[in-house]
Amino acid sequence: MKRLSGTIIGVLVALSASAAFTTTASAQKLTLYCSAQEDWCQLMARGFEEATGIDVDMTRKSSGETFAQIKAESANPKGDVWWGGTGDPHLQAAEENLTQPYISPMRSELQDWAINQATSANDKTIGIYSGALGYGFNTELLAANDLPVPTGWKDLTKPVYKGFVQMANPNSSGTAYTTLATMVQLFGEEEGFEFMKALHKNISNYTKSGSAPIKAAARGENVIGIVFMHDAVKQAVTGFPIQVVAPVEGTGFEIGSMSIIDGARNLESAKAFYDWALTAEVQSRALEVNAFQVPSNVNAETSPSAPDLASITLIDYDFKLYGSSAERRRLLEKWDNEVSILPQ
Ligand code: F6P
Repeated sequence: MKRLSGTIIGVLVALSASAAFTTTASAQKLTLYCSAQEDWCQLMARGFEEATGIDVDMTRKSSGETFAQIKAESANPKGDVWWGGTGDPHLQAAEENLTQPYISPMRSELQDWAINQATSANDKTIGIYSGALGYGFNTELLAANDLPVPTGWKDLTKPVYKGFVQMANPNSSGTAYTTLATMVQLFGEEEGFEFMKALHKNISNYTKSGSAPIKAAARGENVIGIVFMHDAVKQAVTGFPIQVVAPVEGTGFEIGSMSIIDGARNLESAKAFYDWALTAEVQSRALEVNAFQVPSNVNAETSPSAPDLASITLIDYDFKLYGSSAERRRLLEKWDNEVSILPQ
């Protein structure tokens, strides 16, 4: 019954979003900042245009980059909604008043973790999906280079993997910041930074975007990529020789989030997008682009290919602390000053 009434609310939200805007469609627009994968961002932008007639101007950038852009534009905001990307910078944006509160009628359909993300930020953000951090490797290149099969985080610091590992830069990428914050929580700050320094010796290249290392591995340009496990599964189901690893020591995870930008010029369009994006129907469309995150709407469809978070050892990630402005800034500065400058 709960599911049925939830679905009905979802359908009504989708319908009212369309109905409210069909008469004034030409006047309506939405500037969307998107931090998920490009194909998913396109699907959301075009899907919303089709559902409502509202023109969407979408820009895809990584989570840390989008945070920096919204902050830089805060005196004269240009974006309306920030959809996707890891939750930590969304929480930082909320704390810095770069985003504004909104309570969607869709809330009753969401998982507790999605609501918790909202309540910890005074309703200035909300969870839209979740996914666990891990890594993936190219099975053919691993064998061709005579490398042992890695199973844990610490394996990646072994000298045998020198030059064979990629991750993103934690300043630009939410995936990489999640990696840094995970190591600090998993091993303690001192040992966590020792891990990052040892890992640094093996990194061939820090990419800008979080999923780039596994895309490079899929193309045969890299062997091991530290990414969210769902991004590695995406490459595997597409047919690339990628094996996904849930590290034996345990791992962190993200609550991918959505926020309305403070000073949004198209606030009504922003709210309509927000409600629409939380519907089960729209979240189920993630599977069309092989986005295997766990959706926040309890009625949205999931795929058997998606990583099963219940079977992965997850740390009790402290989103409040690691998404706080001071802590995120402190950890990034420490990584810049103590890790990234080291010789490789
Ligand atoms: O869409 C894939 C994804 O991994 C999301 O799960 C995540 O929120 C986002 O990309 C992070 O991207 P980046 O690391 O580039 O900020």
